[in-house]
Amino acid sequence: MGASQSVLGTLDGKIALVTGASRGIGRGIATALAEAGADLALCARDAEKLAETAELVTNTGRSAECVVADVGDSGSVAEAVVRTLEVFGRIDVLVNNAGVTDDNLLIRMTDDEWERVIHTNLTGTYLFTRAVTKPMMKQRSGSIINIASIIGIMGNAGQSNYAASKGGIIALTKSVAKELASRNVRANAIAPGYIETDMTEELTDEVKQKMREAIPMKSFGVPADVAAVAVFLAGDASRYITGEVINVSGGLLI
Ligand SMILES: NC(=O)c1ccc[n+]([C@@H]2O[C@H](COP(=O)([O-])OP(=O)(O)OC[C@H]3O[C@@H](n4cnc5c(N)ncnc54)[C@H](OP(=O)(O)O)[C@@H]3O)[C@@H](O)[C@H]2O)c1
Repeated sequence: MGASQSVLGTLDGKIALVTGASRGIGRGIATALAEAGADLALCARDAEKLAETAELVTNTGRSAECVVADVGDSGSVAEAVVRTLEVFGRIDVLVNNAGVTDDNLLIRMTDDEWERVIHTNLTGTYLFTRAVTKPMMKQRSGSIINIASIIGIMGNAGQSNYAASKGGIIALTKSVAKELASRNVRANAIAPGYIETDMTEELTDEVKQKMREAIPMKSFGVPADVAAVAVFLAGDASRYITGEVINVSGGLLI
């Protein structure tokens, strides 16, 4: 089935900017959006890994532009958006996916661990969202997709910084949805459960086994599971959906 015949409709002619596109879920989302017909601006700090994602995108026949930037740096974020507009002329879809963990029990958490996670995950999402607001409002269309986490809804011992950042992303998403709806700019969040990437690879086998047992579907997700929902939220199939949070967790959060 070609991009233009997808059951979700086509993203042909749409321009998408994906943060954290150098690996994991971000790479999966970028590739899936390209397969659905979008051209891509790819953002992360690691230029080499970003170039590998760009190759996956161009292999689908779509264009890719790499914009190396730290999502927590206001100036670099503004530059990344300007560069994307220079190259492609518009931004239809923003996927705020870049994120980090720095786990510790609250009693031992350092200010640096707290700040780093809140700054990259929540402030980074805010900075990119603010930067695309003007062009999307002028276009009278846009889809902002924020990658949250079920931890932002359920909480998790040892991840108070991460949970707060992801809960904040959900609250930000709902507020942005209300602010921009009248301009036909939508904002939704995806809350993944346990997805196999570098981020989850560092857990011990024992923890992974326990996690798998707790998941009603008894298996971990893969980046393509999250990417499929991102393609849906990016396109016209979801044109009347805004301010929503879609869980992709194999039933872990029901
Ligand atoms: N894996 C899971 O089970 C899971 C579950 C729920 C939610 N999530 C969320 O899904 C998103 C992607 O996670 P993942 O599992 O794919 O993680 P990952 O494999 O560790 O990838 C994280 C991505 O974020 C980028 N990134 C980190 N800090 C950045 C910064 N300051 N500026 C720009 N880019 C930055 C990294 O690129 P560079 O290092 O090249 O900058 C990388 O591309 C995150 O928001 C995560 O919280 C993941």
